[in-house]
Amino acid sequence: MSLSIVILAAGKGTRMNSALPKVLQPLGDRPMLQHVIDTASKLNPSRICVVIGHGAESVRERVTSPVEWVMQTEQKGTGHAVQQALPGIPADDDVLVLYGDVPLTRLETLTELMQAGEGLGLLTVDLDDPRGYGRIVRENGKVVAIVEEKDANDDQRKIKETNTGILSGRCSVLSDLLSMTDSNNAQGEFYLTDVFALANSKGIAINTAQAADEWEVSGVNNKDQLTTLERQYQSLQVQALLDAGVTVKDRNRLDIRGNVETGRDVCLDVGVVFEGEVKLGDNVSIGPYCVIKNTTIAAGTVVAAHSVIEDAKVGADCKVGPFARLRPGAELEGKNNVGNFVEIKASTIGLGSKVNHLSYVGDAELGQRVNVGAGTITCNYDGANKSKTVLGDDVFVGSNSSLVAPIDVGAGVTIGAGSTLSKNVSDGALAFTRAKQKTIENWPRPTKNKG
Ligand code: UD1
Ligand code: CA
Repeated sequence: MSLSIVILAAGKGTRMNSALPKVLQPLGDRPMLQHVIDTASKLNPSRICVVIGHGAESVRERVTSPVEWVMQTEQKGTGHAVQQALPGIPADDDVLVLYGDVPLTRLETLTELMQAGEGLGLLTVDLDDPRGYGRIVRENGKVVAIVEEKDANDDQRKIKETNTGILSGRCSVLSDLLSMTDSNNAQGEFYLTDVFALANSKGIAINTAQAADEWEVSGVNNKDQLTTLERQYQSLQVQALLDAGVTVKDRNRLDIRGNVETGRDVCLDVGVVFEGEVKLGDNVSIGPYCVIKNTTIAAGTVVAAHSVIEDAKVGADCKVGPFARLRPGAELEGKNNVGNFVEIKASTIGLGSKVNHLSYVGDAELGQRVNVGAGTITCNYDGANKSKTVLGDDVFVGSNSSLVAPIDVGAGVTIGAGSTLSKNVSDGALAFTRAKQKTIENWPRPTKNKG
């Protein structure tokens, strides 16, 4: 028997106060709906149907996973939403209903629900404050109905076991039950929850599973709830790093918007943000307030405070920062120093080479043991095209030099400070351009005019 998953995502999300449809609001690195789809995919379903309505076009554009889209043009309630999807699902499939705005349900919890037994499965959660949620009404321990807050009486409102909305059942069974529902209720909607009272009256078993933590089944209706779940999501990821042995200076000041792989004895200071795919080797240490995106950093490298690194490869035993910026295509081969206010783009920096202060290195290839003096600039762009700078092994670039590309500087070359070089230099030479120094003895300084 195969499994079909239906994800409801047609609602408007008015309380988000945003032009972005609710289910596209990001949690970590991806839209909430994407989290739901990613978890759903791990259950190996034969299909995932996503019911969309409000903002359907942008939802389809942003979510590229192979799902079947089902349009619900008018939002007439959760029952109506599921009904739009069922005709496309084989009658004997198991159906699991999830929500595009409930992004953090654990896979194990859903697996437990799917194994709850014959009949309908219902995921519930005990809440200290159940306000706003549908209440689970039980008789002799058995679920007999779900009553929405707006339709509940005083006694029912005291029930703390609430409906998460997540449920399962045979497609044909759900379809039959839904066809019997009506919209005679406080909200004038077709409630998905009504299938439970109907199932009970027809002798269909109702099995429940419980979510272990409230955040697993928390829905997001506004930015307040979104930020709460964002912190929850981050705390889960930080916990995974801690479990792997990473030293984290403050668990509340580290954000992972993607995936981080770590070696042994990695240390992360406060305010670090990781994005995309990041790999950190053994003994890597990241200083305060660094942003690191799609980057590999090899063992023993220290990244000091306020460095920004994107699409780069940093070799072993480097010192980067403080205040360094490695842009896409920056490759440090190892044992490099890249100091403060240095920007490196699309360049390879050979083993042991140093760019310590205030430099721009773009479209360049540096050999080994090169020393780039403070204020050196590769002039890689003539306003139309980019050109390359090549510096051989052991080149010494004097401070405040401009290297006008294309230019090829041979091994062991010394470049005098303050030079603007535009011609190639052969191995071992000294090259410089420099106006002759003039000194005027006993120079009288200007004095202030009187009156
Ligand atoms: C629903 C449940 C309630 C449960 C709560 C948990 C019903 C009737 N009530 O209430 O028992 O405690 O979830 O959060 O099911 N949607 C559509 N199309 C529609 C209506 C809704 O796609 O026509 C989607 C919404 O986008 C939303 C989800 O279904 O993501 C839930 O709908 P909502 O109206 O918010 O239901 P609740 O009142 O929260
Ligand atoms: Ca809701």
